[in-house]
Amino acid sequence: MLQLSTCSRSTFLALPAGIRSLLKPQTLALGRRYRSEDTSRRPLIIDGRSYPTDAWTNIPPPILDHYGRKLHVQPNHPLSITRKLIESCFPEFQHHNALSGVVTVDQNFNSLGFAADHPGRSRTDTYYINKDTLLRTHTSAHEVDVFRSNTSNGYTIAADVYRRDAVDRTHYPAFHQMEGALTWDRNHFKTTDDFLHHLSSALANFKPPNVEVEDANPPFHPERNPPQEKHHSPEEAELVGAHLKRSLEHMVVTIFTEADKALQSSGLELTAEDKDPLKVRWVESFFPHTSPSWEMEVWWRGDWLEVLGCGVIEQPLLIRSDVPSRVGWAFGLGLERLAMLLFGIPDIRLFWSKDSRFLSQFDENKPIRRFQPFSKYPAAPRDVAFWLPKSGPVVAETPAATSTAPSPAGGKQTEPTLDTAPAFHENDLMEVVRSTAGDSVEDVTCIDNFKHPKTGRQSLCYRVTYRSLEKTLTNEEANSLHEQIRQELVTRFGVELR
Ligand code: PHE
Repeated sequence: MLQLSTCSRSTFLALPAGIRSLLKPQTLALGRRYRSEDTSRRPLIIDGRSYPTDAWTNIPPPILDHYGRKLHVQPNHPLSITRKLIESCFPEFQHHNALSGVVTVDQNFNSLGFAADHPGRSRTDTYYINKDTLLRTHTSAHEVDVFRSNTSNGYTIAADVYRRDAVDRTHYPAFHQMEGALTWDRNHFKTTDDFLHHLSSALANFKPPNVEVEDANPPFHPERNPPQEKHHSPEEAELVGAHLKRSLEHMVVTIFTEADKALQSSGLELTAEDKDPLKVRWVESFFPHTSPSWEMEVWWRGDWLEVLGCGVIEQPLLIRSDVPSRVGWAFGLGLERLAMLLFGIPDIRLFWSKDSRFLSQFDENKPIRRFQPFSKYPAAPRDVAFWLPKSGPVVAETPAATSTAPSPAGGKQTEPTLDTAPAFHENDLMEVVRSTAGDSVEDVTCIDNFKHPKTGRQSLCYRVTYRSLEKTLTNEEANSLHEQIRQELVTRFGVELR
């Protein structure tokens, strides 16, 4: 759920909580004492609907400007082309591409069995409209509703999703995900053996993928990657898992074959790495809504890349969706990541570009071609160093992002609490940068993190790299943006500039 750039999350969580009291009420992590101010808050208008705001609200205007662009369905947009390519791998599925991005905490987290203390729920990671309503952080927010509608065995969902995140060439707070699921209704089979037989013959129908696949782990593991013993027999878990893996191997081979064709026909000089054949590897993983779970990684141009997460759907989720007799698998992936590989797009900001030099390069009726970068404008790096304010009670560290403890909440409504918000989080700084300089920033990296041995004060230094995709930024423009960011850091966090 959560990605940090170079500074570790724990560095920030170890900071004094007194900083919290210095934060501006409207935008940052707030203590309970600010609740009295809630009544003065103005509602947020999203998609023509008005939503009340409260102390949880943390959506800055630039995020709302992205809402509603629907890039994944824009004709000839690379994200739409990538979506269609994936849909073509699942011709029998129903494809949902127009689900609203405003969802409830229940849809996004509780219905999927997210633990009450899951870090993804925190205001440092998620854009809240108010305590109960947020901008979806993943397409899985719609799983229960789509399963409940029970209109097809298989579906895909493509949609814009939102996460407070780092600023760099592969992270953007608004991006797109696609997920898919396939379920079988046990009641459609006379006996359990009939169902298992059906799964086995479906598996036998898969052509072997023409790619090397590494799968070192057993189909499930009692501790590391448990089957749902209460609900699934070992044979069932194994067959559903195998069907999932074969389906997704077929999908990535389709995508990467297109990427490879685009590379071969690009006229670019190919390196040895470019010629390295694609490989697939399965790695055990954890998601609150699947078990067993895996991540698929692909070997592409000299690196193992995480492509998707998937697993056997948690049966309690299907029970909650009123389809208790169904069993199946689900996967989710980031569309930008695949589109960047497919077209060779170097910077995630480009997807939002309205520049015809970008948009005119993509045609959904033609074979995929590599993106030809238009002139790159010069980068203007500027550093900002500051002391964090000292004193104040220490904030307890929230569980690490990778915490994989299964949810004790198991889909029950959990009351969110503001007190879990850490005092200062790198994502808050990222947001100051984005809100001030928008898409003129390419990257923000922590380059120094120092604790004074005597005073115990903490100093941080960030390098902000300014580079517009559309024009050369003058020195004055870069300086002026940087100065605004410096001042904003003082006003919001009470830092002392160095
Ligand atoms: N929702 C998961 C995420 O955003 C991805 C996923 C979807 C995993 C479906 C398993 C099944 O990380």
